[in-house]
Amino acid sequence: MNLIMKMLAVPATVLALWAVSAQAATNDDIAKRLEPVGQVCVQGKECKGMEVAASAGGGDAKTPDSVIAKHCNACHGTGLLGAPKVGDATAWGDRAKKQGGLDGLLAKAISGVNAMPPKGTCADCSDADLKGAIQKMSGLK
Ligand code: HEC
Repeated sequence: MNLIMKMLAVPATVLALWAVSAQAATNDDIAKRLEPVGQVCVQGKECKGMEVAASAGGGDAKTPDSVIAKHCNACHGTGLLGAPKVGDATAWGDRAKKQGGLDGLLAKAISGVNAMPPKGTCADCSDADLKGAIQKMSGLK
């Protein structure tokens, strides 16, 4: 009650200033609250992949799907940097021909090539893990 009485007594200009600064503080708060969301968006693909990986694997168990979701999809999902797209059998088929088949592609995936990072960023993937992911992305047998 006392506070309200005091506030009512404050000149209108001061009240207006108070309102403005209160608004600014609110905006700051909103910005702060949005921050983590912004980070999630920036890392959207990775985060999404990790969710899938968590639900697919649960722990360390790697499946082609979890490896792709967590490590490969960031580039191969959209064809980022010229990566052959997941499910683009023609693009993968051409590459397989050039590298001498699936094992040739695997070797390139392990060593990395141009914008394709070694092991596709899955440092703890075994050759079999990578091969499974390549098979799944390419449809190659
Ligand atoms: C940072 C982006 C990126 C990530 C992550 C990534 N790749 Fe790639 N990948 C590329 C690009 C770009 C190319 C095409 C490179 C080129 O030929 O110039 C490529 C090409 C390949 C090729 C074909 C190589 C060849 O010789 O034609 C294979 C196989 C491959 N990636 C496997 C994978 C696997 C498996 C993963 C996940 C474990 C993965 N990549 C993750 C970007 C990526």
